[in-house]
Amino acid sequence: MDIVDRVSTLRAQGIDVISLCVGEPGGGAPVAVNAAAAKLHAEGADFGYTPTRGLPETRAALAEHYARQYSVQLPAENIVMTTGSSGAFQLAFLAAFDPGDVVALARPGYPAYANILSALGLQVVDLATGEEQRFQPTVASLEAALAEHGRLDGLVIASPANPTGTMLSGAELAELAHWCQRHGARLISDEIYHGIEFDPQRPAHTAWEYSRESLVVSSFSKFWGMTGWRLGWMLVPDDLICAVDALASNLALCAPAPAQRAVLHAFSPASMAEARKRVTEFAATRELVMQNLARLGFDSAAPADGAFYLYGRLAPRVLERFTSASGYCRAVLDEARVALTPGNDFDPATGDRYVRLSFAAGPMAIAQAIERIDGFLTRYGLAG
Ligand SMILES: Cc1ncc(COP(=O)(O)O)c(C=O)c1O
Repeated sequence: MDIVDRVSTLRAQGIDVISLCVGEPGGGAPVAVNAAAAKLHAEGADFGYTPTRGLPETRAALAEHYARQYSVQLPAENIVMTTGSSGAFQLAFLAAFDPGDVVALARPGYPAYANILSALGLQVVDLATGEEQRFQPTVASLEAALAEHGRLDGLVIASPANPTGTMLSGAELAELAHWCQRHGARLISDEIYHGIEFDPQRPAHTAWEYSRESLVVSSFSKFWGMTGWRLGWMLVPDDLICAVDALASNLALCAPAPAQRAVLHAFSPASMAEARKRVTEFAATRELVMQNLARLGFDSAAPADGAFYLYGRLAPRVLERFTSASGYCRAVLDEARVALTPGNDFDPATGDRYVRLSFAAGPMAIAQAIERIDGFLTRYGLAG
C-alpha cells in the first residue's frame, strides 16, 4: 500500500509510472452484468436489504455454477453471499474458531489472512514453503506443525495463490482436506482466483469435492473483474450455517443488493466467454513475463499456474547491489518508474529475496516495463 500511495503521488506530479503492484484485472464486469445493473438503476429498483445469507435466486445460480463447473451438487442453503471474499474471511474465522485457536497458513501468503486471524486473537502458524512444494502446504508440513504446537485447529489455503499463482492438484487438495478432517482442523479454502488458470494439467478443484466440513471462500472480484462491486460468497458446512447467519446479520446485514441482482447475468455463456477471453490475455502476458525473467532481475520464479502474479526470486547479483527486495523495488520505482511489490509483504521471513509482479496490467504495459527494468539494470551493469 505504501507503494500504491507513492505511485499516486508520482502520477499526480505528471510522472508516467507503470504499476504492476495491484491485483486488479482491468476491463470491468461482463457487458451483460453492467447492462443489468444499469437497467435496475434506471428502473429505480428498490435495493433494500436482502436476506442475510443473500438473494435465493443468486444463491441458486451459484449452486448451478458448482454443478456445471465442478460437478458438485450442493443445496443453495449452504451458500452465503458476502461483501467480497474479504467479508467472508471475517465470518469464516469468527464462526470456525475461538480465541487462542491455532491456525496454519502457507508462507508466503496473502497478508490479510494472518492480519485478520491475529486481530481475532488466534495464533497463526506459518508453514514455510518453497519452490519444491510449489509454495503450497503439504501433509508433511501439517504433521510438523502439529508436532511443534501440539494442536492445529485450522488451515487456510489458496489455490491459485497470491502472491505465487501456484495451484494444488486435485490429489494434493484432497490429501490436505482429508488430513484436516481426520485431525479436527477446519479447512478454509480461498478459491477467489478460480477460473484464471493456465496449466491444463492443474485445473482448479474446489475443496467441496473432497470435504463438506471445509469452508470455501470465493468472489466475483477476479475472474469476472468486479473488484469494487464487493460481492463474494462462501460455501458453509451444515454445522456452521447458524453461526455464520447470526454473525452476518450483525456484521454486514447483507451483501450489496445491486451486485447480487446483476451477477445473475455473470454465468451466461456470453459472460463466461468474456471472462475467459481475459484469461487468454493473461496467459499471453504470463508467457511474456516468463520469457523475460532474467531481464527483470530474477533467477527463478514460482510456477504461476493461475491468478495473474509472478513471484520472482532476485538474482544474487541484483540482491547484492540493492540489499533487499524492498531496496530493489524502491530503486525500480524511483529510477525506472515501474511499481513492483517486495515479497516481505507476503513473507516476513524470506520474502526479502522475492518480488511480486502483477501481470493484470496486460501485455503492452508488461512489455514496456520489461524494457524499462532491463535498461535500469543495464545502467547498473547488472543486465541479465
Ligand atoms: C488471495 C486473495 N484472497 C482474497 C482477496 C480479497 O478479494 P475480495 O475481497 O475482493 O473478494 C484477494 C485480493 O487481492 C486475494 O488476493
